[in-house]
Amino acid sequence: MEYLKSRLLSSALVLSLLLPLLALPMGETFAKADRLKIESTLRVAGLLTEYKEDPLGIDVTRPRLSWQLKSLKANERGVTQSAYQVRVAPSLRELQLGKHLVWDSGEVHSGDSIQQAYGGPPLRSGQRYYWQVRVWNGEGQASEWSAPAYWEMGLLSASDWKASWIEPDLPEDPSKSGPAPMMRREFKLNGVVENARAYATSHGLYEMQLNGQRVGDEVFTPGWTSYTKRLQYQTYDVTRLLKSGDNAVGVLLGNGWYRGRIGFEDRRNVYGDRLGLLVQIRVVYRDGREELITSDQNWKATTGPILMSEIYNGETYDARLEKPGWSMPGFVAAGWSSVRVANHRKDNLVAPAGPPVRKTQEVRPLKVFKTPAGDTVVDMGQNMVGWARLKVQGPAGAVVTLRHAEVLDKDGNFYTRNLRGAEQTVRYTLKGDGPETFEPHFTFQGFRYVAVDGYQGELTTASITGVVVHSDMRPASEFETSSKLINQLQHNILWGQKGNFLDVPTDCPQRDERLGWTGDAQVFSRTAAFNMDVAAFFTKWLKDVALDQFENGSVPHVVPDVLSSPGKPAGGSAAWSDVAVIIPWNMYLSYGDKRILETQYQSMAKWVEYERRRAGDDYVWDGDFHFGDWLAFASTRADYPGATTSKDLIATAFFAHSTDLLQRTAQVLGKQEDAARFAELLSRIKKAFCREFVTETGRVGEDTQTAYALALQFDLLPDELRPVAAKRLAEEVRRRGHLTTGFVGTPYLCHVLSRYGYLDEAYMLLNREEYPSWLYPVKTGATTIWERWDGQKPDGSFQDKSMNSFNHYAYGAIGEWMYRVMAGIEIDEAAPGYKHILIQPQPGGRFTSVKVSHNTMYGTVSSGWTLSDDKFELVVEVPANTRATVRLPRTQLGNVMESGQALTNRPGISNARQEGESVALETGSGRYHFISEVTKPARPGAPSPR
Ligand code: BGC
Repeated sequence: MEYLKSRLLSSALVLSLLLPLLALPMGETFAKADRLKIESTLRVAGLLTEYKEDPLGIDVTRPRLSWQLKSLKANERGVTQSAYQVRVAPSLRELQLGKHLVWDSGEVHSGDSIQQAYGGPPLRSGQRYYWQVRVWNGEGQASEWSAPAYWEMGLLSASDWKASWIEPDLPEDPSKSGPAPMMRREFKLNGVVENARAYATSHGLYEMQLNGQRVGDEVFTPGWTSYTKRLQYQTYDVTRLLKSGDNAVGVLLGNGWYRGRIGFEDRRNVYGDRLGLLVQIRVVYRDGREELITSDQNWKATTGPILMSEIYNGETYDARLEKPGWSMPGFVAAGWSSVRVANHRKDNLVAPAGPPVRKTQEVRPLKVFKTPAGDTVVDMGQNMVGWARLKVQGPAGAVVTLRHAEVLDKDGNFYTRNLRGAEQTVRYTLKGDGPETFEPHFTFQGFRYVAVDGYQGELTTASITGVVVHSDMRPASEFETSSKLINQLQHNILWGQKGNFLDVPTDCPQRDERLGWTGDAQVFSRTAAFNMDVAAFFTKWLKDVALDQFENGSVPHVVPDVLSSPGKPAGGSAAWSDVAVIIPWNMYLSYGDKRILETQYQSMAKWVEYERRRAGDDYVWDGDFHFGDWLAFASTRADYPGATTSKDLIATAFFAHSTDLLQRTAQVLGKQEDAARFAELLSRIKKAFCREFVTETGRVGEDTQTAYALALQFDLLPDELRPVAAKRLAEEVRRRGHLTTGFVGTPYLCHVLSRYGYLDEAYMLLNREEYPSWLYPVKTGATTIWERWDGQKPDGSFQDKSMNSFNHYAYGAIGEWMYRVMAGIEIDEAAPGYKHILIQPQPGGRFTSVKVSHNTMYGTVSSGWTLSDDKFELVVEVPANTRATVRLPRTQLGNVMESGQALTNRPGISNARQEGESVALETGSGRYHFISEVTKPARPGAPSPR
């Protein structure tokens, strides 16, 4: 009642102030309303530039700005934006005064609050731009200007680089992994430093120090791209690290992906056999003078304590060889060598589009124990990726060895055979001058267990700390259900993502692979976007997908492509190469990112053209190399004859799917002719698919789960055969009692079942605890997703050591179903990025509650339900400036209440209606609390709305 009164009062107030203005044209209304200074209940917050908060050093020439609306009124519903105004200024002061603006968008009558491109004059290299935004809500009420945000441009053209590439002039054998070079120079600054930036990159990896302090908090810089085409540089604010007078800069170089060992074929020097450095420090003095300190012939080089550091193999470090003070002024660089100035290109330098790789969290070990074989092992309690920080004290020259493993074998012994050729070993030689703490530099390990040898004193859980390292993406969801096992599954999926998003999406983080496998990334991308904000991460990686794409349109198996060699392209597998189409589309859906479609369009179309050529006149793609339904359960079982899905079927299905997505992309981009052409192609492929693989009675291919999953998920069958095929699939699932799918079929299986009304079968698969299933590894103690359904078999023995990763996210793609169907948070393709949200949970499988919230570009959407007896309770949160269609399952219109009242005339709710067995309604933003009585279960066979 109180609430109602205050609402009435405030709307009366707003109305009385607005009434006199109603006769005015829109623009004027807003201006006047602003002058009248109505106490605003609207706020704008969460300002992002190109998905980043106040980014330094970007090179997007028309950066996109996004913001979120917040209502200060408790329980306000239906908040929308009717207009916005953005202003951009060269300084904070000018921004706040609204003077000398670089750009003023003026009042833009638009509901768009994300992805709005800067529209002012060309942006200048190295310049910082401050911006803020204000908005008007649906009633024309204005917000205050938001708190300021900024972005800063990087170096936009090759000619902005005045520094020279330099290479240490040291005796080296590039066929082996040798000591890591150190490089340094000193410089004088004559004046008070007002502002300073360092721009840096390298051939190999680098770690930079200024005056004895680490520059920035990023690791594995400059990241991994297709180096010959694109090399990232980082921008650092180093103002506070510099001082008037003597200064010094020091840089460590590591082999990394550039010239270290990479790939399972034991290749080295893939991009070059010399490490190099390019650094440019721009100093602006208080009196306005500017100075550049660059990499040039004045640097010196040597080697030091890092005797070996390689991505796969670990690091060997002799602390006795440290050079204290080497990055400080006054250090005597006696015996240091000179450097060579090299004439490498600079036109491939780019600012990072993705998030930097950082140390994101620390893990305290569970326990220290001795294995039956006598190893002393630290158990981190979590299969993690990064490294172990070692604390030790002892005599100089003592060596502590850390070996890393993911699992113990069935006897409880340390097991490393699945690492293949990756040594994952850190050797630390003590300097012996008191307590020592060590972290390796240019290597990472995938591990839960650390076997420690040579430790000095008593090894305890305090001696080792797990340092978790990955691309620093914002966590995007909270997820909790009434099932502990499913919560652990979600935990495992999340840790699979943490472990394998390290500047590129990798298949695994431990064996001699760790490559950007396209199929794995494609399969997992939608789940990834629920768990974390992956927009910038994939924006970056997709650029390399396009650049590494072969001339004929085929896409490499791994990106960056380190598997192809001259004349021997490694790519073109269906479901792997389709990444070129699938991920851009998923990013468009999840983030409303139209630009990613524009940017990738050519690459997407090239891939589909390739498929078309390979399929030929009959539109059936047969005969080429494909991975097929990789690691399907059925493929490891001789007693499941015919249970393997043919590669021709898979290839033709993905050919159709990519064509379909491309056709939709063309429509989104307004390319009508292309859209029509691809739609026509799609209908031909569908016909061909049915002719070749589908019988009149709805049998698809070899009658496998994957065959049905693909045909139904991609809508390849004629309408009348869909329920028939779905029924066949459901029967097959019931007959087996479990899934038989691999990488390709697994992500779609539950979707197809629930979509066609076989929710019980989908939940049965999800909840199954015996092998093969998602929960079998969970029951076995897994803390990440395994590569194979039976990585560790029920008898405790392991799968084939040559391919048995315990941290492979592909099967984690079930996460998408848990978000989209269990919690029911779904995207409307017609209003992507959650501008219009579908909230349509489908309870089942003995779950009594599922609570999920997801941070979208607009704010948090949540769907939390509980089910007891016949009562279904659903709490929904819809972010400001979006709307939702809520579907309450299995109930009748008269049986639904919201916040204790019947649906008619509830604020923020409209068009409540019976839709088959559900009640559907429309909401504006806000929080809603529904209670409904559940009636009979849905009838299988009819597809539920997507
Ligand atoms: C990787 C994969 C990848 C596959 C290709 C494996 O070695 O680990 O996950 O997709 O090769 O089939």
